[in-house]
Amino acid sequence: SEEERTERIEAAKAELGDDLVVLGHNYQRREIVDHADFIGDSYQLSKRAAEADAEYVVFGGVTFMAESADIITDDDQTVILPSMEASCPMAGMAEALQVDAAWAELTAAVDDDTDIIPITYMNSYADLKAFCAEQGGLVCTSSNAHKAFEYAFERGDKVLFLPDKHLGENTAHRLGMADSTAEWDPWDPESKDTEAVADADIVLWDGYCQVHERFTEDHIETIREEHDDVQVVVHPECRREVVEAADIAGSTSTICETIENADPGETWAIGTEIHLTNHLQRWHPEVNVLPLCGDACMDCNAMRQIDPNYLTWVLEELIEGRERNVIEVEPREKELAELALERMLEI
Ligand code: 13P
Ligand code: SF4
Repeated sequence: SEEERTERIEAAKAELGDDLVVLGHNYQRREIVDHADFIGDSYQLSKRAAEADAEYVVFGGVTFMAESADIITDDDQTVILPSMEASCPMAGMAEALQVDAAWAELTAAVDDDTDIIPITYMNSYADLKAFCAEQGGLVCTSSNAHKAFEYAFERGDKVLFLPDKHLGENTAHRLGMADSTAEWDPWDPESKDTEAVADADIVLWDGYCQVHERFTEDHIETIREEHDDVQVVVHPECRREVVEAADIAGSTSTICETIENADPGETWAIGTEIHLTNHLQRWHPEVNVLPLCGDACMDCNAMRQIDPNYLTWVLEELIEGRERNVIEVEPREKELAELALERMLEI
């Protein structure tokens, strides 16, 4: 039963004591966030992982987040992901081989004194983070993408942003650079306009989040028709038109703060993963929290893979002295990826 499982998780946590910290991303199921020592967005979780001195960091999140935790924690700390199936599809949209090929083409398309700085969204694997560090670039999350762009333009002439084209486009708008973007579609080399790419200040890799891309302007129009006083907050992984039509756009922590700071009785529609919307309604019953897409459920399958039964299993195995589902980045990659993450933490 859920009650029994809850008792087992809490008993295992008590036994592991200070040797353990459980981190939970805002999109995790209720049965996971209820056991997390800290809940947050991907930037906050990477900071928490860096600050943690527990021997074991059990990560309620997806693979790229656990990898980042491993990169940023000390070598004697172990990061555990309760399910190895929790992989973000967007992170898989920029593979190292593809990026290497694109980089060769892109650098050949511009003149010798044009410096391109690659920036990767946190939602990417360690090899891409390492690549960005090697080329003078860095990592960003949705809460600091604009600062990462500023960092890059202080040091170079052009940005290659991977893998989320929507976050890239939304950030270009925020910086007043929307007129100088071009898309790079690695799956359709024929369609590439090399001249446009060479001219643009910001080149956007053609990746996207399949959860956030499904929100449309129609959803916003419909909800505004149905609720006179509704305000709309969305994640910047949503399409440009959706971000434009919303009242606020920001990371999952911005979405949380928006609801925390709302007055009782206010109505907010949320354009992000459904578990966070449900948590916010539970945590703030005085606010009317609605999913932006009505009953159409925007559920992240990768986040959902972290099943509470797996959490119980990895914790009980630790008590028996067995480390299961350890996430470990290869040392050379780790060193470079750490540099890219440190540059982000500094900005
Ligand atoms: P945040 O950095 O806003 O938590 O977002 C992570 C993510 O995966 C959004 O889809
Ligand atoms: Fe990846 Fe989208 Fe899921 Fe975030 S919500 S983990 S970007 S698939």
